Amino acid sequence: LPIDQSGVWRFRELLPILENPNDAVTLREGNTPLLGMPRCAQAAGMERLLAKHQGMNPTGSFKDTGMTAALSVARERGFEWVACASTGNTSAAMAAYAARAGLRCLVLIPEGKIAWGKLSQAMDYGALTCQLRTDFDGCVRVLAEVVEHYPIYLLNSVNPYRLEGQKTPALEMAEEMEWNVPDHVIVPGGNLANCSALGKGFQEMKHLGLTRTVPSISVVQAAGANPLYTSMQTSAGRELTPVHADTRASAIRIGSPASWRKAVRILEQTGGFCEQVSEAEIAIAKAEIGREGVGCEPASAVTLAGLKKLVKDGRVKPSENVVLLLTGHTLKDSEYTIEFHRGNLLSEGEARGYESKIAPLRSEM
Ligand code: F0G
Repeated sequence: LPIDQSGVWRFRELLPILENPNDAVTLREGNTPLLGMPRCAQAAGMERLLAKHQGMNPTGSFKDTGMTAALSVARERGFEWVACASTGNTSAAMAAYAARAGLRCLVLIPEGKIAWGKLSQAMDYGALTCQLRTDFDGCVRVLAEVVEHYPIYLLNSVNPYRLEGQKTPALEMAEEMEWNVPDHVIVPGGNLANCSALGKGFQEMKHLGLTRTVPSISVVQAAGANPLYTSMQTSAGRELTPVHADTRASAIRIGSPASWRKAVRILEQTGGFCEQVSEAEIAIAKAEIGREGVGCEPASAVTLAGLKKLVKDGRVKPSENVVLLLTGHTLKDSEYTIEFHRGNLLSEGEARGYESKIAPLRSEM
């Protein structure tokens, strides 16, 4: 069956969301590799390190695991239109799965603030693609008004079925580790759905007796888009502190994340941390992941940059088993990579103090 070849639907007993899972809209998502990262381990001061590469999904990001679930539900319920606001990856994934499902889709994205690779995917898969002169948070507000007036199924990350699909990388990790789990999983934080989805996956496995423990789940944000980090510092996560978001890691350029309460709960329940990293730290970590022959988009690289900080001050021990969740493929934002290696990405201020680390990573061009 096609659904047995999907890394999401082969766990269908744990995804009780469709009347007939055989009707699922699938592109054979999931089944992504868990890769050893020996040089990144060394750079972070760890004895070993693994990366779960969700960028190896059909549209190149972790969003596919959620979209196969949510588009299947949308089709089963008879919707003709789906829509999302996005920093790029959600729209690419939604457009592909909507096309497979035979549904129309509307994408709202902040003009000039998403990577070309992602914009081109939404167009290629046939989405009605609107660039608005605002940021991601503004797109979310406009879309909330649109869906009030039209029968459109909303596919932003508040959609519960997306979270069901996005919990499956946790199941795959446990499966590959023979039903042990890592000590620690580190994810980038944008709209903050992914950490809650993975937390849910790990908690459900423990509840069912498939595994014995739940890993700590930590969230890393770009310092220029750090509402969760700020909230944890100022109110221990009791209130959200929206920020004006600005980072070259455009996927996580989000100032007012929807799922912050769920994220705080997962941090508290699993004993995870929230960290922030600078533009230079992101760029260095991304180049190190690239040098490993693996590669990822900038937003994914915050995980390695954050791990370095957690190891440095003893919050993670070098002997622990850590998995980084790489959320997007390196080809999503090739402009960023080229600018970095040409030496044009970081301003003098951003690079200050990191020059000696950046120089050896930049290839001669
Ligand atoms: N990494 C990548 C590559 C992303 O595209 C996103 C989010 C995240 C990390 C953050 O995940 O939102 O669950 O905390 N991208 C969304 C989008 C917002 O529209 O594509 P999160």
